[in-house]
Amino acid sequence: MFLMDDIVRDGDPVLRQEAKKVKFPLSADDKKLAHNLMEYLEVSQNPELCEKYKLRAGVGLAAPQVGVSKMMASVLVPNDENEKGKPLFKDVIINPVIVSNSVQRGALTEGEGCLSVDRDVPGYVPRSARITLKYQDVDGNEHKIRLKNYPAIVCQHEIDHLHGILFYDHINKDNPFKRDDDEVFIY
Ligand code: CO
Repeated sequence: MFLMDDIVRDGDPVLRQEAKKVKFPLSADDKKLAHNLMEYLEVSQNPELCEKYKLRAGVGLAAPQVGVSKMMASVLVPNDENEKGKPLFKDVIINPVIVSNSVQRGALTEGEGCLSVDRDVPGYVPRSARITLKYQDVDGNEHKIRLKNYPAIVCQHEIDHLHGILFYDHINKDNPFKRDDDEVFIY
């Protein structure tokens, strides 16, 4: 199981590399990595276990964040309105590609955070409000799905990790809280 000590922090070159495509069928190592990436999110979202293992809660974790430069990330966006309900999105996304995105921009009102970035970086992170995402799951099945709002933003953050981009790269340096006219704000 991954703990905070396993998570690579900002400054490590692996976070700035272009990750490599994953081959199918998955190797035993890749299967284990996929499992462990999702396990971290599940454990971190359980308040008791999160505290017990001294984790930071997360909704996404990309392979480069545990030092593996491969195109794989886990995403687990809980359904806050129904804690025990079906998550808004849950899967390990492998070789993900955003095939189209909305013209409309979206950003989280509170800005973004990252398990690899220990400091708070204030500012809006403008992204696409809606995306069409193509990816493979652990069994190699192809998925093409439409996502909007929070799950769309989480997936864009994780896919950025696979291309060496960190959330604060998107923040307007001169005016971090600049709002665009048609931008939607989420949460
Ligand atoms: Co991150």
